[in-house]
Amino acid sequence: MPTTDTTTLTPQQTTARLDAIVTEIVDAIANTIAKHNVSYAEYRRATDWLTRAGGQVHEIPLLLDVFLATAVDNVNNPADGGTESNIEGPFYVPGAPRLEQPYVLAKRASDGETLIFSGTATSSDGAPLAGAVLDVWQANAAGEYSFIHPGVPEYNLRGQLVSDANGRFQFETVVPAPYEIPAAGATGEVLATLGRPTWRPGHIHFKITHDDARPLTTQIYFEGDPWIDCDVVGAVKKPLITRLDRHEDKTNRTYATCAYDFVLQSA
Ligand code: DHB
Ligand code: FE
Repeated sequence: MPTTDTTTLTPQQTTARLDAIVTEIVDAIANTIAKHNVSYAEYRRATDWLTRAGGQVHEIPLLLDVFLATAVDNVNNPADGGTESNIEGPFYVPGAPRLEQPYVLAKRASDGETLIFSGTATSSDGAPLAGAVLDVWQANAAGEYSFIHPGVPEYNLRGQLVSDANGRFQFETVVPAPYEIPAAGATGEVLATLGRPTWRPGHIHFKITHDDARPLTTQIYFEGDPWIDCDVVGAVKKPLITRLDRHEDKTNRTYATCAYDFVLQSA
């Protein structure tokens, strides 16, 4: 079912839609409370925990991203032939610099092992998409994002590049490390109580646009990552995992390569 275009709803329809959603959320929680005989003491533990979360900066959106963002992505981006979508995550920053060939994301020597990422952009009928814009962002080998973590230069490991006449692209970056979500707050508290890890596997984010195609927001993951089967936000989809190959350059330094072919649905 396509996502409801809420911009076309009348105020009455908006109220009815909200009422239905709120009623169903409350009913679902009430059913769980009944099913598990939740006590007043347990209920108070939950309200106290939510009070702590509310007092912590950015904690509520983090909590929702951890538990619910993947569900929203699944509804809004049903897989139907093209590359699977994936959550945008909280760290996208618009306006990343348009890079010039050869494409190299802004990075420092300390950001990690060199990675050459190559691939193609095609439409779902197999035609190459020339001039597709790939807006790329990622963490470094310490799991840090520019604009988010202190001490990282603006737009570090962020940039926009364009596919060539054959739909091909290649850019140089670094291998991203697994990323631990902020675990010191109420979200980390509940994950620790549940014995769940607080990590995401290393990943590179893409927003790919082309006049003839539906925009694609996705992430690419890497085989063998220790967190690939237990992503804290549950976002990993098997078709989005690629392989890192290791090589040695002339100075015996290792670098990695990987490839991914993106398929965009027709507009
Ligand atoms: C989340 C998503 C990311 O892509 C990321 O790098 C960090 C956190 C999240 O959904 O919370
Ligand atoms: Fe991310």
